[in-house]
Amino acid sequence: MKVSIFGTGYVGLVTGTCLSEIGHDVTCVDVDEAKIEGLRQGRLPIYEPGLDSMVVRNGSDGRLHFTTDAAAAIAGAEIVFIAVGTPPDEDGSADLQYVLRVAKTIGANLRTSAIVVNKSTVPVGTAQLVRGAIAGELSQRKVEIDFEVVSNPEFLKEGDAVNDCMHPDRIVIGATADAAVDKLKRLYAPFVRNHDRFVVMDVRSAELTKYAANAMLATKISFMNEISNIAERVGADIEMVRRGIGSDPRIGWQFIYPGVGYGGSCFPKDVQALARTAQQHGYRPQLLDAVEEVNERQKAHLFELIHRHFDGQLSDRTVAIWGLAFKPDTDDMRAASSRRLMEQLWAAGARVRAYDPEAMDEARRIYGERVDLVLCDSMEEALRGADALAVVTEWRQFRSPDLAAFRTLGDAVVFDGRNVYDPDELEQAGIAYYGIGRGR
Ligand code: UGA
Repeated sequence: MKVSIFGTGYVGLVTGTCLSEIGHDVTCVDVDEAKIEGLRQGRLPIYEPGLDSMVVRNGSDGRLHFTTDAAAAIAGAEIVFIAVGTPPDEDGSADLQYVLRVAKTIGANLRTSAIVVNKSTVPVGTAQLVRGAIAGELSQRKVEIDFEVVSNPEFLKEGDAVNDCMHPDRIVIGATADAAVDKLKRLYAPFVRNHDRFVVMDVRSAELTKYAANAMLATKISFMNEISNIAERVGADIEMVRRGIGSDPRIGWQFIYPGVGYGGSCFPKDVQALARTAQQHGYRPQLLDAVEEVNERQKAHLFELIHRHFDGQLSDRTVAIWGLAFKPDTDDMRAASSRRLMEQLWAAGARVRAYDPEAMDEARRIYGERVDLVLCDSMEEALRGADALAVVTEWRQFRSPDLAAFRTLGDAVVFDGRNVYDPDELEQAGIAYYGIGRGR
């Protein structure tokens, strides 16, 4: 099938590449010329394992195209995806200006009937706005062309996005017309082969499903962080508690890891946007507000431990930080807990030596040159001359460190924001240890 996708961010680029991988003819459209030119040459705007070779292969096989020419991309497409960003605006609501701009462009350029698929995370009711924006353009052009607006939210995780897209656990399709549902089922069929993974529903339910999924996962995390704070106070170890509850299939092992709070471009923004939607409809979302509040507090937790350890005397202290990305296997630092920690340390007069396997360029872009930040080339270099280490992201390479190197820290102390180390092992090696919810 001939498919066009607007937006070459995570969702758009991964979806487009995976659809070309299964044989569709895909055109990815973006307004950013430099980004499109880079993609044509196989340079990706994001770090995502496995994606670059797929982009290059499908590009040279002639199934994956990149363009800024929206009109041409729309003219030939049977299915047009909207996969542009929905950043939060001042009050936390999703800002729909990019989605609606694409909708207008579609209306201005549609030549034959098409299905318009919304993949961006958008509040309930957006499909209706998109339909209105397209219809408005068509009536201005005084043409009548059949089109259908479908909601098809994306559930991919950064760092594992290609796998999630190629092997989805479900494909949610929110549509009214059977013909549109059938067409999307045919589009995606190779991803799900012998399994019936399609969940077909009305458009509004599909829009809400996306927020419900992210809010449920964020709730699990904030819940565990809350229990970890209680564990700290009562002298229990959250890691034992986690093992004690995860085997219950109703609870499950996933997303019950306590830490320095959730970050990234999805959970913080989507929990807030869903809360805003609830308020706009006259409902006070107590649980969602608490999920966010607990997360905000948790992002400050590592700093509080450091502050307490040094009796509030942080000026002239240097803290090494391992991990800047909001989670491993990505270079993304949006809403990352590392940012809150560094900013709090700087405000208290401390200096930071930081290392991340992928996010160094991103850190440079965000913070530029600062006297109180040294971006280091390796984890060892970050420790050099530092008084303490804070582990913020659980990259695999941080898991088996040379304990002797920890002893060279001025204060021989480690703040483990992801509970990756064995407290006893560190303490036996003469290193002071602080974890999350471990009573020490
Ligand atoms: C999330 C969802 O997991 C995807 O299903 C969804 O499609 C995506 O948002 C989206 O809306 O586009 P992502 O933001 O890539 O994916 O990252 P996650 O792997 O979900 O991690 C989010 C944050 O939660 C990270 O900061 C991570 O460190 C934290 N986390 C995760 C915990 O603190 N504890 C856990 O047990 C799990």
